[in-house]
Amino acid sequence: MVDLLPQDTWLWQQVEAQARDHFRRAGLQEIRTPLLEPTQLFSRSIGEATDVVGKEMYTFQDRSERSCTLRPEGTASVVRAAIQHGLLSQGGQRLWYSGPMFRYERPQAGRQRQFHQIGLEFLGFADARSDVEAIAIAWDLLSGLGLGQLALELNTLGTPLERERYRSDLLAFLRRHHDQLDPDSQDRLERNPLRTFDSKHPQTQALLADAPTLAANLDSASRDRFSQVQAGLNALEIPFRLNPRLVRGLDYYSHTAFEITSSQLGAQATLCGGGRYDGLVEELGGPSTPAVGWALGLERLLMLLCQASAKSATAPEPDLYVVNRGHAAESAALRLARSIRQLGLHVELDPGGSAFSKQFKRADRCGALWAVVLGDEELAAGVFQLKPLRGQPQVDINLPLDDPARLIELLRR
Ligand code: HAM
Repeated sequence: MVDLLPQDTWLWQQVEAQARDHFRRAGLQEIRTPLLEPTQLFSRSIGEATDVVGKEMYTFQDRSERSCTLRPEGTASVVRAAIQHGLLSQGGQRLWYSGPMFRYERPQAGRQRQFHQIGLEFLGFADARSDVEAIAIAWDLLSGLGLGQLALELNTLGTPLERERYRSDLLAFLRRHHDQLDPDSQDRLERNPLRTFDSKHPQTQALLADAPTLAANLDSASRDRFSQVQAGLNALEIPFRLNPRLVRGLDYYSHTAFEITSSQLGAQATLCGGGRYDGLVEELGGPSTPAVGWALGLERLLMLLCQASAKSATAPEPDLYVVNRGHAAESAALRLARSIRQLGLHVELDPGGSAFSKQFKRADRCGALWAVVLGDEELAAGVFQLKPLRGQPQVDINLPLDDPARLIELLRR
């Protein structure tokens, strides 16, 4: 788990603000759910056989001996909240969220035990167009942030029945070739044969080239639906690549599954993942409700942004730095800084009471455009001085202390 230090948080705030604005323009509403949920919520939704539930959850007993888990993802919590508060009876819900998630994974670049996701969930929408819209919102958000070299991979996982049929076919195939599988794939073969597709092992991958495909097990309704999603993406000119091996690591998906990847991310190439989960609301005790959504990893997004742009990720410099010295002047400077801030300017106040020369050095170092100077002499005259720090025309101006708003006119010129 990592700290986000002051030099990092400015860029985080920029990305979060841009995402918030993007969601607002798409008519989505924010939902915030607790970090802690009953363990059962995740084991029932994500699936007992998945790595997330089997190996990665932070689970503990609370003081009432209830089993609690730090949320490993957001979808299950959003669905629980929607059911619990009757949101689903109020029509379709188009929701977004952001916040920390927790998975006990082996940490490496782009993989942390506490990480942050931004995600969206559309609850109550069955049409293929909602899959397309959800994907388009992710694509446009990432493109709008200036990220190039992204690839959208698309697959369909069909219905649970189609998947069950396929699972038996695949299991039979993998059992026949058990000896050629890597140890991890052998280990999860009976529990979750579809996850074999996630293996990075070359021999396993080579074997899978001949494995049965889910596409061959799909009924015409599922095939049609998938074609509609593809046609919708084509109409929006969002490029995608079909990847019949894309299975996702969570069990609740049906039909559309997708990932947005970047070759610049190294081993953890997936930036955003999601898909349709038509059975989940009912599984968690709600009314039958079709749904689709995605989440993206903010750490990975930030890694890409830092690689992609040479532009500084530091916070903007202050407009003004208040240099102040003298017993009476120091408290007047505090009042002055406060009233200039109320005018909307970014003001730093030198706290030190040190010599003017030292304060000017600090003013220069912090990158402020102007210094405001207030000593006992200025105070006695009822003025403060404005001095340019960044090569603006060399004018020293005295402004009345009781009318700091004159500053705004002056700085606008
Ligand atoms: P997920 O694929 O498990 O999907 O996670 C989504 C994204 O979260 C990943 O693509 C990755 O960028 C980021 N992520 C996951 N684990 C880590 C980690 N340990 N460290 C850093 N980043 C990580 C979900 O969580 C689903 N709830 C998405 C969804 C929403 N499906 C439907 N609705």
